[in-house]
Amino acid sequence: MTGMPPGMADEAAAALGEDEADAFLARAGLVLPDVVAAVERLYGDRAGDLLGRALRTSLRAAAERPAELRRLDRRREIDPAWFQSPRVQGYVCYVDRFCGTLRELPGKLDHLEALGTTYLHLMPLLRPRAGENDGGYAVADYREVDPRLGTMADLEAVAAALHGRGMSLCIDLVLNHTAREHAWARGWLAGDPAYAGFYTAFPDRELPDAYDATIPEVFPDRAPGSFSWVPEALGGAGGWVWTTFWPYQWDLDYTNPEVTLAVLGEITWLANRGVDVFRMDAVPFMWKRIGTSGQNLPEAHVLLQLLHALTRLAAPGVVFKAEAIVAPDDLVQYLGAHERYRPECELAYHNQLMVLLWSSLATGDARLARQALGRMRPIPPTTTWCTYVRGHDDIGWAVTDTDAAALGLDGFAHRRFLNDFYSGRFPGSSARGALFQENEATGDARISGTTASLCGIEDALDRGDEAALETGLRRFGLLYAVAYGFGGIPLLYSGDELAQRNDAGYRADPALAPDNRWMHRPPLDWAATERAVDPRSLEGRVTALLRGLSEARRGQPALAGGTESEVVDAGSDAVLVWRRRHPRSGTFVGLANVSARPQTVDADTVTGFGTYPCVAGSDGPLPVEDGRLLVPGLGWAWYAEP
Ligand code: GLC
Ligand code: GLC
Repeated sequence: MTGMPPGMADEAAAALGEDEADAFLARAGLVLPDVVAAVERLYGDRAGDLLGRALRTSLRAAAERPAELRRLDRRREIDPAWFQSPRVQGYVCYVDRFCGTLRELPGKLDHLEALGTTYLHLMPLLRPRAGENDGGYAVADYREVDPRLGTMADLEAVAAALHGRGMSLCIDLVLNHTAREHAWARGWLAGDPAYAGFYTAFPDRELPDAYDATIPEVFPDRAPGSFSWVPEALGGAGGWVWTTFWPYQWDLDYTNPEVTLAVLGEITWLANRGVDVFRMDAVPFMWKRIGTSGQNLPEAHVLLQLLHALTRLAAPGVVFKAEAIVAPDDLVQYLGAHERYRPECELAYHNQLMVLLWSSLATGDARLARQALGRMRPIPPTTTWCTYVRGHDDIGWAVTDTDAAALGLDGFAHRRFLNDFYSGRFPGSSARGALFQENEATGDARISGTTASLCGIEDALDRGDEAALETGLRRFGLLYAVAYGFGGIPLLYSGDELAQRNDAGYRADPALAPDNRWMHRPPLDWAATERAVDPRSLEGRVTALLRGLSEARRGQPALAGGTESEVVDAGSDAVLVWRRRHPRSGTFVGLANVSARPQTVDADTVTGFGTYPCVAGSDGPLPVEDGRLLVPGLGWAWYAEP
């Protein structure tokens, strides 16, 4: 297998017309060597006519692609760095919790626009299984919208409304697993040959035990291990089905090329509905090998590269975002940073930055962040991070033992401290988080809770403590100032624009009650948006902060992607300082004092020997004394070359 399958050129011309076919074939020519190598690597002898069928899937999708999306594609082929612009800024919400249904969404875009949003991530909205469905991550049909949220036509209308305002649409693509109710799973269970080998089941515990010995558990409390007993499996004899997450989420078996083709069909079909960004869910888990952690295997990357190339063949304006909550060295690889660059995902969650910010605020010390961020390998200049403070998931303390040890800390003890701190058990902590998935055997746990509650705002309000409220707000401001100024697409998590606190409402719903991640997925409090017009109210202050950050960010070309943020030591252990030297747009320096006490840093390092003015800050331009900048406790500032 080497080149273009015979007849492709004619088929393309017939399907697309001369001009579009020429573009399609040019794109195919560029990616073909990588696609062929990937197919051979993954499927070897089993590849058969896979290449031809995969290219034809892309061709069909290209032919069906609506004219207005082709126009967007063309614009993005002209400006491939479109998602790296400092005007790109995200907002993340659940449709029902934000506004009820998809139909109502276009009427709510003013709220988003006022915050500077240009990229909207709608949490899982494809038809999930009934009952418990992991917040929509158990998809029963990729081609239907959850009827409670609307229809596929409504989703297309939302995409069009967003595009009309220069915004883009991101949705989740859950491709590690489907719901057990998905037609593929039902077909497989019933022995339909069309779905043979779509999932994996073992007749006894021998192999499951062997795999489980080295695979970490994601949900140890109610879903221990990675397998679930299904009496109907294996022709009714019963079997242990691969279920990395909950028992009703069945892992697809990508060693079967038919699965890869089927998934490609779903991705390209969804792309043609107007989706711009696919959040590729749980990608580290997509390929398994015995004796490993079952995450980040080289084949998982090759598979993503293959799906990426074939999707963009049909829809060149579409980009992939990796959800890989893994150690730093593993993380950069999802952006294609392998020994040689391989296009894979354009975007990935910067979970290191997120975790290290929370860790720094708990210790009042920025050295661990400096150590871990400083050690990260550069990412390809054609990719960028999504920077964020909170999302819909728990916070898993991805602080590596190596980084902790470099500072004389014990990794395990530090992670335990963070859990104590953010669950409020640590003496003096005002955080109001809750432990998620506490594992008695390993002592591990993660943290749930909203930004405001983890920052101490809930506690301060309950106690009516004004000074504590100020401190909580300064923490909040610092976190978002780093997320908006670090470089990459900042994501604002719905509810944070109003400093919403933990929501206990989920406990009343039996399908949600066992999963405390729902405490930080509150319905947007529209009544509070009315309070936000008062600049002295809590909501008004947070809204003003976020709008200010957004505006300042747009004015900073050095915040465009394509260059690294390097962390620098400016002479204070408590101040995180990062610098972006943009090849075209000059230098940007940000700083954040993670401690509650005033600090000083070397002024020349931050201000470029007095040549970079302060462009935003918690306390205005910082005073200089004896060559040092005075940074108030929990203060932050951005300096940039004019
Ligand atoms: C992702 C989601 C998480 C979900 C898991 C299983 O990690 O972020 O919420 O539980 O995938 O789909
Ligand atoms: C684990 C997984 C991550 C998932 C999360 C759900 O951290 O690595 O992908 O989102 O669990 O809580």
